[in-house]
Amino acid sequence: MVTVRLAHETDFAGFRHAARRLAAHAVPPADVVWRVGEAAGDLLSADEPLPPPIAAERELRVPRLFVPLAEAVVCHSSPDRFALLYRILTRFFVEPRLLQIATDPDVSAARRMEKSIGRDVHKMHAFVRFRAVPTDEGERFVAWFEPEHFIEERAAPFFRDRFAPMHWTILTPRVAIVWDTETLAFGPGGRREDVPGEDATEDLWRTYYANIFNPARLKVKAMTAEMPKKYWRNLPEAALIPSLIAGAERRAAGMIAAAPTLPPAYHDRIRIRDGERIEAMADTEATDLDRVREEAAGCRRCPLYANATQTVFGEGPQAADVMFVGEQPGDREDLVGRPFVGPAGQVFDEAVTEAGIDRARCYVTNAVKHFKFEPRGKRRLHKKPNGGEIEACRWWLAKEITLVQPRLIVGLGGTALQSLLDRPVKITEMRGQFLEFRDGLTVFATVHPSFLLRLPDPEMKRLERARFVDDLKRVAERIAEMAA
Ligand code: URA
Repeated sequence: MVTVRLAHETDFAGFRHAARRLAAHAVPPADVVWRVGEAAGDLLSADEPLPPPIAAERELRVPRLFVPLAEAVVCHSSPDRFALLYRILTRFFVEPRLLQIATDPDVSAARRMEKSIGRDVHKMHAFVRFRAVPTDEGERFVAWFEPEHFIEERAAPFFRDRFAPMHWTILTPRVAIVWDTETLAFGPGGRREDVPGEDATEDLWRTYYANIFNPARLKVKAMTAEMPKKYWRNLPEAALIPSLIAGAERRAAGMIAAAPTLPPAYHDRIRIRDGERIEAMADTEATDLDRVREEAAGCRRCPLYANATQTVFGEGPQAADVMFVGEQPGDREDLVGRPFVGPAGQVFDEAVTEAGIDRARCYVTNAVKHFKFEPRGKRRLHKKPNGGEIEACRWWLAKEITLVQPRLIVGLGGTALQSLLDRPVKITEMRGQFLEFRDGLTVFATVHPSFLLRLPDPEMKRLERARFVDDLKRVAERIAEMAA
C-alpha cells in the first residue's frame, strides 16, 4: 500500500507529481491511499518498495482535456476525488480516448464533479455581499461565505478583477481571501461571527434589489432553485423577498395597466414576422440569465444606447457548452432584438449548419450589445465599436460567460476576440487557434461572417467561405470530443 500526503485540499501540483510517479511505477489505483493536510514528510510513503518503472513504450499520454477537468475535480469536497482522478489517469494507458466515453462511470463522475464546482463558483460570485468596516487606514470590506466545495482559490480572481480598487477580505470556514489592491493572499479561515453585521451598504443592496425585481417575471420555484435558501442569511436583500413575492401580483397588474406605447410600424412588422420565435422565448422559465437580460435592457454604460432601438442580448440555452461571440448587432438585429438574424446571421446559420453544429444548442451573443451606426439618408451604416465601448460592454459579456459557463467560446472576428482576451488582436495571427482562457475555458478564433459578405470577388468569397466552414468543422469536432 502507498500513502500519498497532499499539502492541502486543492493541492493539484502535489497530486500531479505523485500521480505521475505512481503511474510510472505501475502502482494500481487500489493500492494507493490519498490523504490531505497531514504532517509534512515524503509525499509518498510505501509499505513496500515501489515496483520497477514500466517500459518506455508504455509511457503515459495524458489527453490535454484531462488537465482542466482534474484542476476542477480537485476542488470537490468528495474525499474520493484524488482516487477517482488517479484511476482515470492509469486507464489512459489502455484507453487513451477514455474521456470521450461520457457514459463511463469514472468519466461521468468526474464530469458531474466538474459541473458542481462550476455551479458552486457561480453561487459564490453571485452571493458574496461585502460589509464596510471603517478602520484607521480607511474603509475595508469583509464578507462571509460558505461554499460547498474547496473553490475559494478558483473563485478569487473574479473578485480581484471586479473589486480591484477596494481592500477586501472574504472569509470562509477554510480560507481567508485577502486583497489589498495589489496582491491576492490566502490565509486561514474563520467564523461567521468574525464578520460584522449590518452596515450602510446593506440598504444599498436592498434598494437595488427592490428596483430590479420584476414582479411580472416572478417564478418562485426557479428563484429558490437559483438562490437557495441557505444563502439567504448572508444576503441583505433576502429580507425583502417574502414581501416582494406577496406584492408581485398587484404590481404585475399595475405594469399591464401601464403598458408602453406601440413600437414604430417597421419594428412591428418584423416582430410579427418573427413572432413565433419571440413568443417561444417569452414562454421559457425565468433564469439568472433572464434577469441579467432584463438589467441589460436598461444599460447606460456607454452612449450607444441613445441611438439604438434596444439592447440585443445573447440567446440560447444557459447550459450550452459552446458560446459564439460576434461584434455587435446590425441593423436587422437592432430592430428584431435578437443576435445574428440579418445578412451576417444568414451566412453564420448556413456555415454552422454545413459544419454540423446545431445553433439551437449554442449560446450566441455579441461583444457589444447596442447597434452603432452612422445615418446615411434612410440607411444606417454599421460603425465599428471603439475600445471604450467594447470595454464598457465586457461587463455583460462577462456575466453571460459566468452564467452559461461554456466550455468553448468561439470569437468571431477582431472585436469579439479583443473583448474576450482583453487586448487588441490581429485575427490573421490568431485564426484557427484554440487559446487557453481563464478558468479552464478555451477560446477559438475565427473570422466574422460579415467579412465574407464584404469580399467583392466571387471566387475569393467562395474560398474564404470554405475556410470559415473548415474552422467551424474544427469547432464541431471539439464539441463532439467534449460531449464524448
Ligand atoms: N454582426 C454581429 O457581430 N452580430 C450580430 O448579431 C449581427 C451582425
